[in-house]
Amino acid sequence: MKKKEAQKRIQKLRDQLNYHNYRYYVLDDPEISDAEYDKLFRGLQSLEEQFPHLVTSDSPTQRVGAPPLEAFRTVEHKIPMLSLDNAFGYDEAREFDARVKRLLGNTDDIEYAVEPKIDGVAVELVYERGVFTLGLTRGDGYVGEDITLNLKTIKSIPLKLLSNDSTMPERLEVRGEVYYPTSKFKKLNEERQAKGESTFANPRNAAAGTLRQLDSGITAERPLDIFVHGRGQITGYEFKSHFEALEAFKKWGFRVNPYITVCNGIEAVIERCTEIAEFREELDYEIDGAVIKVNNLALQGDLGMRTRSPRWAVALKFEAKQEVTQILEIKAQVGRTGALTPVATMKPVKIGGVEITRATLHNQDEVDRKDVRVGDWVVVQRAGDVIPEVVKVIESRRTGDEKKYHLPDTCPVCGSRVVRIEGEAVHRCQNLSCPAQLKEGIRHFASKGAMDIEGFGERLVDQLVEKGLVKNIADIYSLTKDQFVGLERMAEKSAQNIIDAIEASKKVDLARFLYALGVRFVGEHVSRVLAREFGTLENLKKASIERLQQVYEIGPQVAESVHEFFSEKHNLETIDRLLKAGVKIKEPAVLEDSKLAGKTFVFTGSLEQFTRSDAEQTVERLGGRAASSVSGSTDFVVVGAGPGSKAEKARELGIKILSEKEFTQMVED
Ligand code: IVH
Repeated sequence: MKKKEAQKRIQKLRDQLNYHNYRYYVLDDPEISDAEYDKLFRGLQSLEEQFPHLVTSDSPTQRVGAPPLEAFRTVEHKIPMLSLDNAFGYDEAREFDARVKRLLGNTDDIEYAVEPKIDGVAVELVYERGVFTLGLTRGDGYVGEDITLNLKTIKSIPLKLLSNDSTMPERLEVRGEVYYPTSKFKKLNEERQAKGESTFANPRNAAAGTLRQLDSGITAERPLDIFVHGRGQITGYEFKSHFEALEAFKKWGFRVNPYITVCNGIEAVIERCTEIAEFREELDYEIDGAVIKVNNLALQGDLGMRTRSPRWAVALKFEAKQEVTQILEIKAQVGRTGALTPVATMKPVKIGGVEITRATLHNQDEVDRKDVRVGDWVVVQRAGDVIPEVVKVIESRRTGDEKKYHLPDTCPVCGSRVVRIEGEAVHRCQNLSCPAQLKEGIRHFASKGAMDIEGFGERLVDQLVEKGLVKNIADIYSLTKDQFVGLERMAEKSAQNIIDAIEASKKVDLARFLYALGVRFVGEHVSRVLAREFGTLENLKKASIERLQQVYEIGPQVAESVHEFFSEKHNLETIDRLLKAGVKIKEPAVLEDSKLAGKTFVFTGSLEQFTRSDAEQTVERLGGRAASSVSGSTDFVVVGAGPGSKAEKARELGIKILSEKEFTQMVED
């Protein structure tokens, strides 16, 4: 092949590869199979091998990593990369708006762009005549480090801009945030741990560590991604608004966050921020707030900059999920199944507005893996409703006085032997009548989602067990008023209230009853699934492992646990005693003609007439299914006030959207 011919073919292959790369990594909507892509890629590789002098830095073959560097060189930013002022809470966001209006001498509503604030690493990408030539870290804001080779390995960064119109900027600097997808972060830490390397405390540290690799071959193996959100120096091109610039970036092949909207006036901005906060947990990247930016670039210019931050933007911070504190003590807690869990008591620290003093260390393996010691300074985290956990030790704060911890060999509650069964992560107390297990079991049995016996608090349960009044959950139903009156702080009246509450709890539906029994792996949701599928306790008792596994959402672990539970003589005796004591199980009515039967519902936003859990239970009672995320198999999405991304996704997928009123109507029918 002649050089000229090769050059033409190479160019064509590069254009094709760039285009398909964009479809795959930016739009998430590929047009060809991986195998077809690989074929094009290998074709280009082989041509470039034959004609090495035709290899250019923007070729798709140049993404895979280059020989390691000694150090990064530093480069000055043409325009400083500033930081953002923070607003904590909506009132401070309103103050920001008032300031903007005052400075502009304007009383009309301002148009703002509202964006998720990505918790990643800030970078600048420089394109000269459409080709990616330089990529920098933010550094101190004035001088950054040249991490071009590392950035090239990120597939959603265009090496060459798409749509080659002649009006393209001569020089284009875009700024964005590189992040480590949360879904892949856990795997990274597991792999590092297996290799004996230190783990990253959070995805942002993983992104920063990966971008600062001198060996870009390592960066190439990690799934970094990027959203671009701002401009640096741009020559030969004009925009009127920030949003218009983002639209152009998209057109040129950059990945722009899909949740950016333009809002009129600060109240609309606040509403949008509430929505973003609501879908925060559903995203595959961490966000630590929302950025509010004056959209009109002329107004941005009028407002100008302070030394470190622009006057036209503010970051509305969400509550942090992680904080640093010190471990004062580690103790073993004995659960309902006899499992010993190491729990750390820490100096009190606030996370997301809630004061935390205790965090779980899960099990001995976790204590050893993270090498957590008493006295250590640690990163603790709380996400959603889960129990706070210790993420990582800050080794640099060790003084040498820290003490290693090991779970005890004997149960801290009953003194019996503690055993770790081979292949299991947990240590268990071997005493089946260990008071700790009994106490936890009773508390669970009486709890709100189970038999819902009001007044069965921790203190009362402790006394009932310690005085030998309750040795088995069924004993609850033979307790007398006199027995309660004899207990601490128990007057006639409260004793009567408890007796009434116990009596009231006797009428229970099958799902709650199952949940109350405390079968391993059977939480509230699984209980409802089982109750709906089997209808009666008798049917469930008879079900084989195979039959259980046929149920949608029931896996092998749950099936085995349920089967084992109902094969155990003691458990069957307890159930018999409960029924003899007067517990009446209301079995779910079969509602085959219900409009909801077999349909999957997803709820988003807050409803007026129902709590989320009530609404889900209603659906399930009527034979439907409640799911937490929208997918192709969703039939209806019920939208309340302040809906999140689920509503948008439903619209995209063409799924039927119901208002609360329509949903209520359907249920009443
Ligand atoms: S705009 C002049 N938009 O947050 C500053 N920044 O705390 C313009 N960040 O350094 C920044 N998401 O690295 C902007 N949608 C977003 C952002 C964002 C994350 C980062 C950025 C900045 C830091 C400030």
